[in-house]
Amino acid sequence: MKSKRWVLITGGAHRLGREIAFAFTNAGWNILCHYRTSKDGAQATQKAIHDLGGSCQLVDMDLSKGNAAENLMNRCVELTGKAPQCIVNNASIFEADDAPSATAEALQTHFQINTATPLLLANALYNHLRGAADVTNGEHCVIHVLDQKVHNLNPDYFSYTVSKLALERSVALQAQALAPTVRVCGLSPGLLYLSGPQTQSNFDRASVVNLIQKRIEPTDVAMCALFMAQNTSINGCTLRADNGQHLIPLSRDVMWAIEEAEDR
Ligand SMILES: NC(=O)c1ccc[n+]([C@@H]2O[C@H](COP(=O)([O-])OP(=O)(O)OC[C@H]3O[C@@H](n4cnc5c(N)ncnc54)[C@H](OP(=O)(O)O)[C@@H]3O)[C@@H](O)[C@H]2O)c1
Repeated sequence: MKSKRWVLITGGAHRLGREIAFAFTNAGWNILCHYRTSKDGAQATQKAIHDLGGSCQLVDMDLSKGNAAENLMNRCVELTGKAPQCIVNNASIFEADDAPSATAEALQTHFQINTATPLLLANALYNHLRGAADVTNGEHCVIHVLDQKVHNLNPDYFSYTVSKLALERSVALQAQALAPTVRVCGLSPGLLYLSGPQTQSNFDRASVVNLIQKRIEPTDVAMCALFMAQNTSINGCTLRADNGQHLIPLSRDVMWAIEEAEDR
């Protein structure tokens, strides 16, 4: 019998979102793979899931719009006939700035996509479930994907960091507010993929700056999301999946910190 559990993964076409989609597929979940511009990537993820014997529906939405969360939830309900059992708020923007150069536009755009829409998607799930007859407490879950940076602060990527800090501080607040219907958890990966202005050589060196001195496996991070979705005792807390990167304090983002250390 096909699983009745659906997970919505935002930004599911590539990279961590795609890994999370495979982790849930392999555990028997059906996938709602959200994308914005990456239609080809989303279709490739869908095909790979179908090849594994899973189910995957695609849903596109620009998450920078104020009404995106409500609209996305409505589209998911239209596609599957009910609200998803889990939402993984994985989509995000990550644009380079620092504290003195941050602009109102950068702060607001990061806040809308990385903070407001994830929080409002959790609310939209809660609102759909309230009053529904067949809801079991604890079975629905929202996972906000954060970053080890929020546990290991420096002022680089300032707008991004501020947006993820606000989301991280909201995990416990939302868990309290949406109980007993929806659990809310955080997941903080360390450096996983080459991003923005980073070179491959810089990434190769930066990605082993953690206590284990090895690259963090995206599949391990994805398995943490699955674990939190399925373990109904976990609520209001954040799991750090970063090989201990958050325990290596740096005064700058690791991308610049290693260049500066090597120049000395
Ligand atoms: N990459 C890392 O090393 C790292 C480290 C720590 C934490 N994280 C966190 O882990 C998560 C995944 O990271 P990632 O590097 O895999 O993500 P990513 O590739 O930078 O972005 C994931 C997706 O977000 C979607 N997105 C961006 N702006 C959007 C918008 N306005 N509306 C809708 N979708 C939008 C994009 O979808 P489309 O392509 O379809 O447009 C993109 O594919 C993020 O939350 C990130 O903060 C990542």
